[in-house]
Amino acid sequence: MTGSELLAAAVRRLGAAGIEGAPRDARRLLAHALGIAPERVSLILPDPVGPAALTAFEAAVARRIAREPVSQITGGRDFYGRRFRVTCDTLDPRPETEALIAAALERRFGTVLDLGTGTGCILLTLLAERPEAEGLGADLSPAALDVARGNAAALGLAERARFLRSDWFASVTGRFDLIVSNPPYIAADEMAGLAPEVRDWEPHLALTPGGDGIDAYRAIAGGAAAHLVPGGTVIVEIGASQGPAVAELFRAAGFARVTVRPDLDGRDRVVVAER
Ligand SMILES: C[S@@+](CC[C@H](N)C(=O)[O-])C[C@H]1O[C@@H](n2cnc3c(N)ncnc32)[C@H](O)[C@@H]1O
Repeated sequence: MTGSELLAAAVRRLGAAGIEGAPRDARRLLAHALGIAPERVSLILPDPVGPAALTAFEAAVARRIAREPVSQITGGRDFYGRRFRVTCDTLDPRPETEALIAAALERRFGTVLDLGTGTGCILLTLLAERPEAEGLGADLSPAALDVARGNAAALGLAERARFLRSDWFASVTGRFDLIVSNPPYIAADEMAGLAPEVRDWEPHLALTPGGDGIDAYRAIAGGAAAHLVPGGTVIVEIGASQGPAVAELFRAAGFARVTVRPDLDGRDRVVVAER
């Protein structure tokens, strides 16, 4: 079978299974099976696909039909122009998190703390963009920290990135110019309504703190002042409806200047709190 025939059949099967974006996913899975970049798939479409790639592609399509996210099947995700390893222990980095990166890069910082670092995508992107900076990534999940350490090494950032198992600030010492976090923020009663790719495959520790969804912000707002240098800044990602509540938590914790900023789709996405 040629690449074209295989791709068309996979798009039909994924579409019939209710996968949104079936053509895009099929291309990414075929590229993965062939060991080439997705943008090169068009070049090989007229050619016959060998037996090893065919078997790998069939297995990948079956996993996708079971609703496993493409990033977990292929093992990686591009974020802010860099590749990050993704596993079932880490959140799949989301494009909307680039709004937090943009807000952070407007500031000067030499030290940065990333709470709930996951793949390390926020910390490592900031360190890659600021070659003079160093940082600490904290997470409660040892498995996620292993992935983050591997990503730091793969990106050549291991000397400037440290990682620590910590329940938010509990094991963190020292003060930082910048604290960033994309914490779990889905309310307990919203979990059942999530897409199966998220609900059934991504770690619940990364998705929800339980309850009303803002417990992580309570911990971060409560501990931030003691871990910031004077004049330091906290930047957190939020769910679209959480701006007023999270901004109020930071004001109540003594932050004088607190702003809520939108993402590229115009939805509230980031809270910036300055001491
Ligand atoms: C929404 S994910 C964000 C991951 C990554 N920073 C990103 O933006 O893709 C939240 C992360 O917080 C971590 N986490 C959850 N509860 C935590 C806690 N009590 N202390 C530290 N990290 C926690 C999870 O393991 C997960 O890696």
